[in-house]
Amino acid sequence: MSFLSATLSRVKPSPTIAVTNKARELREAGRDVIGLGAGEPDFDTPDNIKAAAVRAIEAGHTKYTAVDGIPELKQAICTKLRRDNGLDYVPAQVSVGTGGKQILYNALMATLNPGDEVVIPAPYWVSYPDMVLLAGGEPVVAETSIQTGFKLTADQLDAAITPKTKWFIFNSPSNPTGAGYSREELKELTDVLMRHPHVWVMTDDMYEHLSYDGFEFVTPAQVEPGLYDRTLTCNGVSKAYAMTGWRIGYAAGPEPLIAAMRKIQSQSTSNPCSVSQWAAVEALNGPQDFLPANNAVFKRRRDLVVSMLSQIDGIECPTPEGAFYVYPSIAGLIGKTSPKGTVISDDEVFATALLDEANVAVVFGAAFGLSPNFRVSYATSDTALTEACRRIQSFCAALT
Ligand SMILES: Cc1ncc(COP(=O)(O)O)c(C=O)c1O
Repeated sequence: MSFLSATLSRVKPSPTIAVTNKARELREAGRDVIGLGAGEPDFDTPDNIKAAAVRAIEAGHTKYTAVDGIPELKQAICTKLRRDNGLDYVPAQVSVGTGGKQILYNALMATLNPGDEVVIPAPYWVSYPDMVLLAGGEPVVAETSIQTGFKLTADQLDAAITPKTKWFIFNSPSNPTGAGYSREELKELTDVLMRHPHVWVMTDDMYEHLSYDGFEFVTPAQVEPGLYDRTLTCNGVSKAYAMTGWRIGYAAGPEPLIAAMRKIQSQSTSNPCSVSQWAAVEALNGPQDFLPANNAVFKRRRDLVVSMLSQIDGIECPTPEGAFYVYPSIAGLIGKTSPKGTVISDDEVFATALLDEANVAVVFGAAFGLSPNFRVSYATSDTALTEACRRIQSFCAALT
């Protein structure tokens, strides 16, 4: 329809949200569907954070705030970046937005001109390429492989960079693979970036606190201080603090970039929710002891899912370092036929057949830019996970 913008035709709706909605619709229609599509913790927001929000309402913090965040939250973010990441920022270098999503979007809107390229390792979080397209830039996808644990190599990064590259988007631990880069692995990438001074780094540290087996989280400006002046360190409270609905994300970086992002936000949404900002102050400044407790649960679930999926002939399921996703390959199932006659020609057909024939909702790998795979979110109960994996086992065993 010509009324709609040409930009809109460059992007697609979020496939992860589509899968979650479809699973919900089927459940509402009475089908016994287990949803492994959603990218959010099933834990409730901790009580101390909720109480801080109630106090904020009672204290009348219900009005507009500074466009990109209250001073108390910006200070809490600076304290967190020093405490957890060894990075020094002042509040003027910090931007707070309505979720990590808005922060990344603001940064791309504030910096991309037509033809500017953004290097995105695949598999990627579904929104990166579409946000780049919305902002008028060109996504340049650099495919990783299961052999390197879905991690980009130095050579691959080097090959993807051109004179037009503006940003490199980095995400560790990753959505959708859970892959986390060690200090040594990340240093290999930052060494490449040091040789390309025109490339800026947008690091999405959203899953920083969700990692297992003693994995040490590191972020680019920490591993290579020489990148500090061209790195935007993005993070948020959604995943670690089970606050997806509160919509608070943030970034720290060079002041002129932060000012440009503020300008975009001032003409679009203005400040993020005042009450949520006070809740985020408590999340960052308050007790952090529930994090290891939650991680112990996630690790148990990861091990359960990896073990049950690895028993399936034709599926290869690596054990990731973090986040709450696994990204198994179905290369060994391509070409087989389901009992209802569906030929598994690719991962989208696999995911659709799994939902139709086995009542399990997962997201197909093509949505994340690397096939043939599917993403399982294990942020759900052990009982649901066990039953879902049992159904996937039976579905795959029945393929001929
Ligand atoms: C890698 C990654 N970055 C950013 C986000 C966005 O987080 P938020 O809910 O704070 O907008 C998500 C959410 O799924 C994510 O997985």
